[in-house]
Amino acid sequence: MSTIVAPSLLAADFLHLERDVEMLNRSEADWIHLDIMDGVFVPNISFGFPVIHQLKSITQKPLDAHLMIISPEKFADEIAATGAAYMNVHYEACPHLHRVVQEIRKRGMKPAVTLNPHTPVSLLEEILPDLEMVLLMSVNPGFGGQRFIEGTVRKVALLKEMILRRNAQALIEVDGGVNLETGRRLVDAGADVLVAGSFVFSSEDPEETIRQLRAL
Ligand code: DX5
Ligand code: ZN
Repeated sequence: MSTIVAPSLLAADFLHLERDVEMLNRSEADWIHLDIMDGVFVPNISFGFPVIHQLKSITQKPLDAHLMIISPEKFADEIAATGAAYMNVHYEACPHLHRVVQEIRKRGMKPAVTLNPHTPVSLLEEILPDLEMVLLMSVNPGFGGQRFIEGTVRKVALLKEMILRRNAQALIEVDGGVNLETGRRLVDAGADVLVAGSFVFSSEDPEETIRQLRAL
């Protein structure tokens, strides 16, 4: 089975978003990863619902929404209305995570929980069976183009072991600083989904780069 690849639109050319989404449509990209920021949970603001609705109208690829915002449950209806397949919420932003996960599922989306680099995977023991995916941040969230944090490879292996031990179904996704070299090691450790922003969009041939990531 090939690795699932979710290019992050954060690295696209926002003046030519349609062109870049059409490139992703032609490509073998499995999903499109959307980074939604509030300037509070992370020190940056990206794009919001008007942009997401527009781009949904020009792609059939499943949308993987990564919410870097506090109280993400407040926007569950809006995210569902974009047709997103996955709604990723940060563990660090949800004191009532179990409730949030149920709210996501109730709206027909697949619940995923994201961990910042400092958050140990052991904190997911109780919620793991309820999740469709765990997203491990391999950079501090907020910006594209940062350097990969090495400890993530070990976190992937620990999470994989936990998933197998509990006979859980969650996919393992990794986001930040992914390229062919880090991607190779992440997949070897058990990652199922790779998010890649700058590596895809700054490469000479993004479609070929996506193909190479899928072949890892
Ligand atoms: C960072 C975002 C990432 C980002 C990845 O906060 O969650 O999805 O776009 O960008 P690269 O692949 O450039 O590290
Ligand atoms: Zn992301």
